[in-house]
Amino acid sequence: MTLDDYRAHFNKTLAALYPEEEIISIRSIILENVLGLNRVEVALSRKLQLTPQQINELDTVLERLKQSEPVQYIVGQTEFYGLELQVNRATLIPRPETEELVTWVLEETTKKQPIEILDIGTGSGCIALALAQQLPNARAEAVDILIQAIETAATNAQNNQVEVTFFQQDILEADSLPRRYDVIVSNPPYVRELEKAAIKENVLRHEPHSALFVSDNDPLIFYRKIAQLAVNNLKEGGQLFFEINEYLGEETVMLVKEVGFSNVTLKKDLFGKDRMIRAVK
Ligand SMILES: C[S@@+](CC[C@H](N)C(=O)[O-])C[C@H]1O[C@@H](n2cnc3c(N)ncnc32)[C@H](O)[C@@H]1O
Repeated sequence: MTLDDYRAHFNKTLAALYPEEEIISIRSIILENVLGLNRVEVALSRKLQLTPQQINELDTVLERLKQSEPVQYIVGQTEFYGLELQVNRATLIPRPETEELVTWVLEETTKKQPIEILDIGTGSGCIALALAQQLPNARAEAVDILIQAIETAATNAQNNQVEVTFFQQDILEADSLPRRYDVIVSNPPYVRELEKAAIKENVLRHEPHSALFVSDNDPLIFYRKIAQLAVNNLKEGGQLFFEINEYLGEETVMLVKEVGFSNVTLKKDLFGKDRMIRAVK
């Protein structure tokens, strides 16, 4: 079987499950990963005869894709803000909206002065690592409840040669934070149980529920707790940034104000959805 034959087989197998554009993108990631070739080499190897072992490996991957497992978990990595990050079942796959949050933080901070940053619910470490890399004078710390996430984030820091201090902590149980910060940023769990029906199969079946879901009774539990901690642990003029549930923009702004921030801005993402909040102490 040639590479071209396998391409056709790949497309046909996934046609009913994924849109065509997504199949092409997934196929390219898988072929590069399994065959150990770069994008150009894959494009130039249409008549390459695949070995039985390669076909076997590709078939195994195809089977996982049919079970709607995200391609990022299959190859064990993804890209975020130009960083190559390991991801696994303990870490959420970073989303483009979160890159927008990082961009906002960078727009509102200065590269020149030393600043102290805390990322709460770090997962793969994506936010903390991107900020630490872009802000050479920053001292970044990051916390997550899951030790497996902390371990992955620490590996990602090492692989990308970025310095971040990680610690394991259930933020809902924290009475205070270790120090005072210039920036506290968080993309906490925010999807309500009632929104589960609208969540895609690949997310629901494979991504960590503890990273995604909150109860319908108190969906802003993380925002309340983190905003309360931030009131005490941000320096004067310090900033709190949140990624938020698109359906709860106004409610989240109100909550952050009630907790003690007067200067609060709500921002939409590229899709026009309420997605981020910035509050200044
Ligand atoms: C929406 S994910 C965000 C992950 C990553 N920051 C990102 O943007 O892709 C939320 C993260 O919060 C962590 N988390 C959940 N409950 C937590 C808690 N009580 N204390 C600290 N972290 C928690 C999850 O393990 C997960 O990594």
